[in-house]
Amino acid sequence: MDKLVIQGGAQLNGEIRIAGAKNSALPIMAAALLTRDVVTIGNLPHLFDITTMLELLGCMGIESVVGEKLNVEINSSTIKRFNAPYDLVKTMRASILVLGPMLSHYGEAEVALPGGCAIGSRPVNLHLAALKKMGAKIIVENGYIKANTNGQRLKGAHIFMDIVTVTGTENIMMAATLATGQTIIENAAREPEVVDLALCLRAMGADISGEGSATITINGVERLHGCQYQVMPDRIETGTYLIAAAATRGRIKVKDTRPSILESVLSKLEEAGAQIDIGENWISLDMHGQRPRAVSLTTAPYPAFPTDMQAQFTALNAIADGSGSITETVFENRFMHIHEMNRMGADLKVEGNTVIFRGVPFLKGAPVMATDLRASASLIIAGLVCESETVVDRIYHIDRGYECIEEKLQSLGAKIRRLPS
Ligand code: EPZ
Repeated sequence: MDKLVIQGGAQLNGEIRIAGAKNSALPIMAAALLTRDVVTIGNLPHLFDITTMLELLGCMGIESVVGEKLNVEINSSTIKRFNAPYDLVKTMRASILVLGPMLSHYGEAEVALPGGCAIGSRPVNLHLAALKKMGAKIIVENGYIKANTNGQRLKGAHIFMDIVTVTGTENIMMAATLATGQTIIENAAREPEVVDLALCLRAMGADISGEGSATITINGVERLHGCQYQVMPDRIETGTYLIAAAATRGRIKVKDTRPSILESVLSKLEEAGAQIDIGENWISLDMHGQRPRAVSLTTAPYPAFPTDMQAQFTALNAIADGSGSITETVFENRFMHIHEMNRMGADLKVEGNTVIFRGVPFLKGAPVMATDLRASASLIIAGLVCESETVVDRIYHIDRGYECIEEKLQSLGAKIRRLPS
C-alpha cells in the first residue's frame, strides 16, 4: 500500500485550485439513471470514487464517455443489468445512490447492502423505509437489497426522515422525480450537495422546490431529459487546505471555491485567530505566523459545523494554544484519528462522543495509519506540524477523496512525498 512521508515544520504559503465536490458528483452521476438521454457532467474531481461510480454504471451496461478534462457523458439507455455488486459497493458506500433512480425509472434494482465502515454502522434503513412508503416492494436477503415496483410507477408520499440523512434525502429526491403525484420530504438534509443535485435534476426537467431547506417538495413528471451540468466546488477539500495552512501558521488563497457554503468552518477559523478574506469564488487565510488558538466545536448537519471537517479541526486543536472540547453528533465512531494523534504526542482524551483536548506546541513525527478518508487528511495535517518525519500508511483512503493531495501540498511548500507500495 502506498504511504505518504511528511517532513513537518514548513509554513504553508501559496495558492491552490479546488476540484469539484465528490459528494455532489456521486449523486449527480447516479441521477443519469433517471433518463435515457445523455447527461454530461463537468468539473468532476480525479478521484477513485468517481472511477468506482463509472465502473458501477459500466457493470450495469451503461456506457460513459470520459472527456479530456474528465467531463463525463453518461447514457443509461444501454442499461442491461439492474444489479450493483458487492465487490464494488463494499469499496464505496455511496453506491447506494443508484437504488432510488434505478428503481424509479426501470422498476427494479438489486443493490448490495453497504456494510459499515470505520466511522460507524451507517445503516440505510431510512432509504428503504421511504421507498417502501412510495410503493416499492423491498426484501433484504443474502446481503442484497432486492427492490421492484411490480411494473407500476412509484407513488408520491409524505416522508418524514427520523434522522437527517444526506444520501437518504438524495435517494428519495431522485426516486420522487418520476413517481406519480407529490412527494414531500420532511427533515430533509440541507447540505449544499443536496442542493446541487436538485439543481441538476431541475435541469433534467424535474419539478422540485425547497432544496436547501428541511422540507423538499417533488411533483413527479412523466420523464426526464438529458442535461449538461457543472458540479459545485468541494467545500470539504476547501476547508481541509485552509486548516492545513492555519495549523502551520501560514497563509493560503483557495480558488475556484464557494465561500458561502463554508460559513461555520470560516467562523471557527476566525475564532482560532485566522484572518479570513473572501471573494466571489476564493477564500484567503493568513495566520500572520501566529499559533492558532484552541476552539471548541460540535458537529451537526448543515449549516452547523460539518462532521467531515471534525478530524481536520482536531489536528488544528491538537497544536493550538489552550484547551477545549470537540463533540461528534453525526457518527458514532469518528475518533479513530485521535489515538494516532496521541501517538504523535497530542493530548486528546475521548469521553463518549466528545474529545477533551489540551493543545501542545508541536507534535512528534511517528508512523501512523489512516482509517478513513477524513482521518487520513487529519493525520497529514498533524504530520505537517511535526518537527520530525511522519509516515502515513493506508493512504488509499485519501486517494478516494482528495485530488493530487501531495502535489497540492508540495506547491504550498510542504515537504511531502508518496512512497509507492
Ligand atoms: C454523506 O454520507 C456523505 N457521503 C458523508 O461524507 C458525510 O459524512 C455524511 O453524509 C454526513 O454529512 C456522501 O455524500 C457520499 P448520512 P451518508 O446518511 O449520507 C444515520 C466523506 O468523508 N443514518 O447523512 O451516508 C447514519 O448512521 C463521507 O466524504 C441512519 O441511521 O451519511 C449517520 O449516523 C463520509 N439510517 C447519520 O444518519 C439511514 O438510513 C447521518 O448519515 C441513513 C443514515
